[in-house]
Amino acid sequence: MKPSIDLILGTALWAWTIPRSQAFKLLDDFYAAGFRWIDGATNYPINKNTEDFRAAEGILHEWINTHGVRDLKVLMKIGSVNNLYTPENNLSPSFIQIIYNEYLHLFGEQLAEIMIHWDNREQAEEIQATLEALDHLRQDGVRIGLSGIKHPAVYQQLNNSFNFDWDIQMKHNLVYSDYSRYAAFHGSPRFMAYGINAGGLKLPTASYRQDSSTAVRNVPTKKYQELVLKVASTLENYNATSSLAPLTRFNECSMVYTYYSPDIKGILIGPSKNEQLQSTLTFFQQLQAGQHQELYQQLAALSSND
Ligand SMILES: NC(=O)c1ccc[n+]([C@@H]2O[C@H](COP(=O)([O-])OP(=O)(O)OC[C@H]3O[C@@H](n4cnc5c(N)ncnc54)[C@H](OP(=O)(O)O)[C@@H]3O)[C@@H](O)[C@H]2O)c1
Repeated sequence: MKPSIDLILGTALWAWTIPRSQAFKLLDDFYAAGFRWIDGATNYPINKNTEDFRAAEGILHEWINTHGVRDLKVLMKIGSVNNLYTPENNLSPSFIQIIYNEYLHLFGEQLAEIMIHWDNREQAEEIQATLEALDHLRQDGVRIGLSGIKHPAVYQQLNNSFNFDWDIQMKHNLVYSDYSRYAAFHGSPRFMAYGINAGGLKLPTASYRQDSSTAVRNVPTKKYQELVLKVASTLENYNATSSLAPLTRFNECSMVYTYYSPDIKGILIGPSKNEQLQSTLTFFQQLQAGQHQELYQQLAALSSND
């Protein structure tokens, strides 16, 4: 049987293309639908505007206080020291402890998980020190995870003496996947997929707005146009032969592809509008009911991922 998969609400565009009032509405609906996991990072939004450093987590904190919510599960990715989209970060034990205390102060018992956010290091001694710091957090009952790790095998090797049951965030979509880079961690459902729409791709029937995700993040939509056209044509054939309600969005294809990919534990969703959120949640129910397995095989055949 397929292990259960959860949805996690992403916050990367909050205080960027998604203003505070809209983020509040997304949280209202996501929470009302019974979902609890929220994904953040110290550097969200990564819009290179220093005034917005940590603004996304500020919105989340404000929403929690406004509504007196006590049962969210907040996942924070740590290490970044700015939101300039540079690899500059700090994973020293003292910094990890400082930022952990900061998030405990902000989110209290709702702080459910801490992830290392971007690590290009290869030196075992330095990574060992980071793991020792994370071990203290684990003893507090916080889950520990990894994201953007350049040398995952070093982490895996050192883990022999720690036994972390890592969660891993990986970019995973029809045009690109980090799954093979994390080969050392394959074999159990520990992967949370992000960027499932490759940053906001749409079918040719939809159009990109001026403030669309692809525009602000410089996603090369033209480069992906061929794949998008193939997805559209696959969908047309699938809809014509399926007795289920027709699929109309690139996001639905992305959800199918991610849901049935190996070792998936969670799907990070990044809706910018409540209508997108609603469509995602409704479609997720269909996936949980076992629909669209066949489409996965067809989509996987289009993707160039290993
Ligand atoms: N670990 C990491 O390093 C990392 C990196 C990136 C992201 N993340 C996390 O993953 C979350 C999601 O990532 P992402 O924003 O890159 O995801 P994405 O799904 O690739 O892109 C999100 C965009 O897709 C479009 N979209 C989403 N749902 C839709 C729907 N139902 N119908 C139509 N369009 C839809 C929207 O575009 P428009 O707004 O243009 O309509 C939305 O802004 C982030 O918020 C963040 O929390 C983690």
